[in-house]
Amino acid sequence: MKRDKIVAGNWKMNLGLDEGMELVEKLAKAYTHHEPRMVVIPPFLHALAVQNYLQSVHSPIEVGVQNCHQETKGAFTGEISASMIRSCRIPFVVLGHSERRQYFAETDALLAQKVKAALGQGLIPIYCVGEPLTVREESGQNDFVAHQLEQGLFYLSPEQFKEVVIAYEPIWAIGTGVTASPEQAQDMHAFIRHRIAIHYSEAVAAATRILYGGSVKGSNARDLFVKPDVDGALVGGASLDADDFLRIASSI
Ligand code: PGA
Repeated sequence: MKRDKIVAGNWKMNLGLDEGMELVEKLAKAYTHHEPRMVVIPPFLHALAVQNYLQSVHSPIEVGVQNCHQETKGAFTGEISASMIRSCRIPFVVLGHSERRQYFAETDALLAQKVKAALGQGLIPIYCVGEPLTVREESGQNDFVAHQLEQGLFYLSPEQFKEVVIAYEPIWAIGTGVTASPEQAQDMHAFIRHRIAIHYSEAVAAATRILYGGSVKGSNARDLFVKPDVDGALVGGASLDADDFLRIASSI
């Protein structure tokens, strides 16, 4: 089964507009491939400028955003809906990032509503799962991630589920410089695929794109990408550096 390979760069709350545009211009000049799919994920305020620029130069690089609200519209000051994202022709939305879960109290139940809202607008959710260090130390990571999948995604129909990209991001590896070993990543990705096969089918499991995230860099990407169940990466820090991000993409 051939699955899309994806390298997505989550800029988080980093870079001013000029810096972000400079980064994306460098990427667009250097990256003209359609495979792996390259996705840049700027802050909301800059996403449309980035999207317009990439379209104007006919770049294959795609754009995502880092969150969306679960309602379509209304009196929710400061929020952005999936339909607004859609109206900007931005295709990807990250949901369930551990920073949103931790600092903004996003629960699996809320995330389930956001996933539904995103899919309802034809967006592709990049849905993040992953365990904290204390859970890993007690070898509870499989149960922890299985629970996140069940609560956050497994109510979807097989047709809906097929649109979702999963990102496994062990919290202890995010922004710490400590990446999961390629074997740890592979074990969890295989486990996630197995749970999908049990809940949906082997065919759905084989078609699901599962990215790894957590301190991915140009220097460690290749060892992760050779693992059979790792379909790409969700990159934080290293995606702010054009050369490093390009090196990650070329490692697939
Ligand atoms: P990092 O972040 O690459 O800086 O560890 C990954 C993420 O949060 O998606």
